[in-house]
Amino acid sequence: MADVRASIDLALPPAAAFDALVEELANALTRLGIRFEPGPGGRVAEGAFEVGKVVAWEPGRGLAIEWRHASWSPGVVTEMHLTLEPSGGGSRATLEHRGWDAAVGDPVELAGWFAGQVLAPLISASSPGAFGDWFTDRRARRPSGPAARATYLHPLYHLPNFRAILAELALTRDDYLLDVGCGGGAFLAAALHSGCRAAGLDHSAEMVRVAREANHDAVSAGRLDVREGDAAALPFPDATFTCAAMTGVLGFLADPVRVLSEIRRVLVGGGRFVGLGADPELKGTPAAPEPISSRLRFYDSEQLEALARRAGFGEVRVVRRDLQAFAREAGVPEAHLPLFAAGEGGGARFLLARKA
Ligand SMILES: C[S@@+](CC[C@H](N)C(=O)[O-])C[C@H]1O[C@@H](n2cnc3c(N)ncnc32)[C@H](O)[C@@H]1O
Repeated sequence: MADVRASIDLALPPAAAFDALVEELANALTRLGIRFEPGPGGRVAEGAFEVGKVVAWEPGRGLAIEWRHASWSPGVVTEMHLTLEPSGGGSRATLEHRGWDAAVGDPVELAGWFAGQVLAPLISASSPGAFGDWFTDRRARRPSGPAARATYLHPLYHLPNFRAILAELALTRDDYLLDVGCGGGAFLAAALHSGCRAAGLDHSAEMVRVAREANHDAVSAGRLDVREGDAAALPFPDATFTCAAMTGVLGFLADPVRVLSEIRRVLVGGGRFVGLGADPELKGTPAAPEPISSRLRFYDSEQLEALARRAGFGEVRVVRRDLQAFAREAGVPEAHLPLFAAGEGGGARFLLARKA
């Protein structure tokens, strides 16, 4: 019998490594269309087919899953084991699929399966292109993981632009605001102080969860609705919102005109939009470092205006703002305030648009 095995050494005690791996695995499998319910008696399902069930669960030490490897031969069962063992001050985590060779049969075919389905994805995941994409998604484009959850719950360095957008929007209790790409809901939390109603949308399931939890009272009171979805296909009827905002999202959009058209569609007549730009001057700075920077699109003022006009907005302008005073108010450390100074260019760009 041959086992398939992958392992990693982590500078974490076994209990912490176990918790981190189980959480990340469940989230990553969900993104791949596989549902993993961890815990004693847990299950793994691919669509309607139950692929596995948890038969051993020892937090900090490991788990075992009885694996039914094909829906067309449900009686054939193999075993997966995730094992944590102390190693060099940290721990070694090993995932083994025992008896998997029987599913493939011929050893040359097994070598082909292992090279193609395990080794090639591992090597490709470590390539600059794939690693840069993973890093960009993880940190900003579709944030996930504990570090991103903490960052977007309290995005200190985004608070200055939130304040600038709120100053432009001048929200009242009568407003119904949409925040596109709402992250952990920090902008929504600030906006809700006006007494307005609001909705947030993000394509990261983890960000949606953080935004809901962070604004739990407003959600319970029916003042806030946070949805998982794509900015290019907003799940809201025409003419729903009196205003919309988008911050830290524009540069990631493959089709910004389509997203702005969607925003225009869901605004009422006279509805206003304020969006933070994606300033070319930021390329390669701490605000847009590599490998994120080369995966962003940047727009100067004319290009920004053109995007909004192509999306059908009639009244469009770009303003530039010095964010230093907002940064000071928000509690950004004194040493970092110069990052928010207008400089020669005239400050951060904001796209202001109004639906006719
Ligand atoms: C850099 S974060 C900014 C989050 C928040 N607006 C802020 O300023 O703190 C970008 C956010 O936009 C979301 N996002 C990016 N592209 C999106 C899309 N096409 N549809 C929905 N959300 C998107 C990401 O998941 C992420 O939460």
